[in-house]
Amino acid sequence: MGNLVCYAVVTPGLEALAADELNELAAHDVKTEAGGVSFTTTMDGLFRINLRSRICTRILLRLASFRALSFPELYNKSRKTAWEHYIDPHTAISVRASCSGSKLMHSGRAEQALADAIRDRLGFDTKGAIDAEDGEQQILLRIDNNRCTISLDSSGERLDRRGYRLHSGKAPLRETIAAAILRWAEWQREEPLLCPMCGSGTFAIEAAWLATKRAPGLDHVFPFASWPSLKEKRWQRARSKAEAMQQGEIQACIVASELDSAILAQAKENASTAGVGGIICFEQRDVRTLTVPKQCETAGVIVCNPPYGNRVKGNVLSLYRALGRQFKEQFSDWRMTVIVPDKQCEKALGLQVKKQLKFRHGGKWVRLLCVDNHGN
Ligand SMILES: C[S@@+](CC[C@H](N)C(=O)[O-])C[C@H]1O[C@@H](n2cnc3c(N)ncnc32)[C@H](O)[C@@H]1O
Repeated sequence: MGNLVCYAVVTPGLEALAADELNELAAHDVKTEAGGVSFTTTMDGLFRINLRSRICTRILLRLASFRALSFPELYNKSRKTAWEHYIDPHTAISVRASCSGSKLMHSGRAEQALADAIRDRLGFDTKGAIDAEDGEQQILLRIDNNRCTISLDSSGERLDRRGYRLHSGKAPLRETIAAAILRWAEWQREEPLLCPMCGSGTFAIEAAWLATKRAPGLDHVFPFASWPSLKEKRWQRARSKAEAMQQGEIQACIVASELDSAILAQAKENASTAGVGGIICFEQRDVRTLTVPKQCETAGVIVCNPPYGNRVKGNVLSLYRALGRQFKEQFSDWRMTVIVPDKQCEKALGLQVKKQLKFRHGGKWVRLLCVDNHGN
C-alpha cells in the first residue's frame, strides 16, 4: 500500500490546531475542512498519528470515491475495493451510510449494497450486523451529491477516550479538547501550569502526558492491528518508538485545584490511573482565594473550564468575576486561557482579551479567551 488518503475527525473549531499537530507528525497535503482535516500519509504515518495525536478524535482511511446513481452501481464499484486487506473472517464489521442531495437517499439500502459487495468480494459471510454501533471495524459510506466516499475507521474507539478517566466529575472536557487548548494557550512544558476548578483533572493530566511525552494511544485498541495486510513488525516498531519517547522525570510544575473534595479525590485517582499521580500537585481550593502556588518559581499559565450552562447550576457570573479579580490581583505576568459560554461571562471576567477561539463543547459553541496580566 502506498500513499494513504486520510481524514481526521476533529471537534469543530479545533481544525487548525489539529492541522498543526498533523504537520508535526509528518502528515502530507494537510488541509482543514469543517469538522476535520484531510491529509495523506504512509502506513507508518497512520500508526504514528493514531498513537501520538492528542487532538484528533479519529482517523479515517479513505478507500474509494466514485459516482453512483443506482444501488447496483454502488454494489459493483464497492466490490472493486481490496476488502481482503482489511477484513478477515473473525472481524465483526459494521457499515454505516449517510446520504444527502443524491439520487441514492435510502441509507439502509446503501448499507446493504455495500455490505453485500464486501461479502461477495471476500467470499465469506462477514461477522456482525450492518447497522451495529459496535463492530470492531467500522466502515463508513457517505453519499453526497451522487459521490460515494467509502472510509475505514482506523481508530476504533474515539481517541479522546484515553482510558484514565474512571470518574468524570461535572461537565468534563473531552481529553482531545483539553490537549488542543493547551496547544492554543502555547503552554511550554517548563512553565508552571495552574488548573483551578479542575473537575476530573483533564487539563492537568493532559499537560502531564504532554510534559512526559506520553503517547496518548499506547493503550488504545486499534482495528488496524487485525487487518490481514498489517505488517506486524512495522506496527511494533511504531509502538516501540512511541514508548521510547516517554520521559519519567520532568521539571514541570502542574497544580490542579478544586472546591469539591470528593471531585478532587476522583481527579487524583484519574491522575494515578494515567500514571502521572506523582507529577501533579492537587489542592482543595475555592477559586475565590486563588493565589500563585508556592511551588511555582516563575510566572506561568492558568487554564480553566468554569462551571456554566444547564448542566451546572449556581452563580456562574460571580465565579467568572472572582476568577478575573484574582488573576488581576495575584498573577502578575501570568497568562490565562478560560472557556466562556457567552458575552455576559466574558464581561464578568473583566479582562482584556488578547485572542479568542470558538469551538463546540457540550453541544454548543463556546469561546476560549486568552488574557495576560501585562496589559490588564
Ligand atoms: C465544568 S467543571 C470542570 C471540568 C473539567 N475541565 C474536567 O474536564 O473534568 C467545573 C468544576 O469547577 C468546580 N467549582 C465550582 N465552583 C468552584 C469554586 N468556587 N472554586 C473551585 N472550584 C469550583 C466544580 O466542582 C467543577 O468540578
